[in-house]
Amino acid sequence: MTVKPFVKWVGGKRQLLAKITPLIPEAFTRYVEPFTGGGAVFFSLSQRLQEGQVPAWLNDINPELVNAYHVVRDAPDELLEDLRTHIHSKDYFLSLRSLDRQAGGLSSLSPIKRASRFIYLNRTAFNGMYRVNAKGQFNVPFGRYKNPAIADADTIHSCSKMLQKVEISCSGFEGVLPQTGAGDFVYLDPPYIPLNKTSYFTSYSDTGFVHTDQIKLAELIRDMDERGVRFIASNAFVPELRDMYSGFTILEVKATRAINANKDGRHAISEALITNIL
Ligand SMILES: C[S@@+](CC[C@H](N)C(=O)[O-])C[C@H]1O[C@@H](n2cnc3c(N)ncnc32)[C@H](O)[C@@H]1O
Repeated sequence: MTVKPFVKWVGGKRQLLAKITPLIPEAFTRYVEPFTGGGAVFFSLSQRLQEGQVPAWLNDINPELVNAYHVVRDAPDELLEDLRTHIHSKDYFLSLRSLDRQAGGLSSLSPIKRASRFIYLNRTAFNGMYRVNAKGQFNVPFGRYKNPAIADADTIHSCSKMLQKVEISCSGFEGVLPQTGAGDFVYLDPPYIPLNKTSYFTSYSDTGFVHTDQIKLAELIRDMDERGVRFIASNAFVPELRDMYSGFTILEVKATRAINANKDGRHAISEALITNIL
């Protein structure tokens, strides 16, 4: 039984699970994800991690997402109670969305109210996207779903159970990779190298993820490898990978991606799995 993530996430790995999970080692002493997003790979490992009581560390740079993980872990019932108060309408969506445009931003909200707003927007915004403008304000339009699962008690409770004892942090990946050691298994799913300039989807956070970040990431992955850490990293299947990750296995896998507004934006593309396990 795998646990379903409590957020829908652009770039979510649910459809690639069948390719990724067979590569994950049988035994490891800690599970680490520096770019957790919706955590599809982590939640899919529920049985293995829980039965083996394997500790885990989940990190992401997005503070609203990380707050939601903390609240799902520590206060699932209070969160569900608040989620049940939301109304599914465009006006209500816009009023909740605009809270980060007021003086003080979201700081006047409690962590539970912030997580509840975040999950509501994730369930009702167009394509379940998370995108902020340069000021960090959420700017995805209303999604017109018929019956979105806003207060999904089964999912929140299963995720909460799995997150008990999990360390959750909010930092750049540079704060995570150097803290790993032999015995750890690390799954990395960064924003991808662009296939071309217009396809560069960099709005997961207001900081963006640029070429120098990709280079730094590849360097820190190489350092991890030298310390005996086993890893799998996802990325776009692009020629640059050959140099950046020379010496590692690079597998090509197919995925369907939809990040553009029109139907033509949904097509099969090649993704890469880079690893030192095979
Ligand atoms: C492709 S998504 C991960 C998707 C995830 N595997 C899933 O199944 O939903 C990339 C994630 O990296 C995070 N991120 C972007 N820049 C980052 C950085 N510099 N350090 C850490 N996380 C970052 C984003 O907030 C986003 O959640």
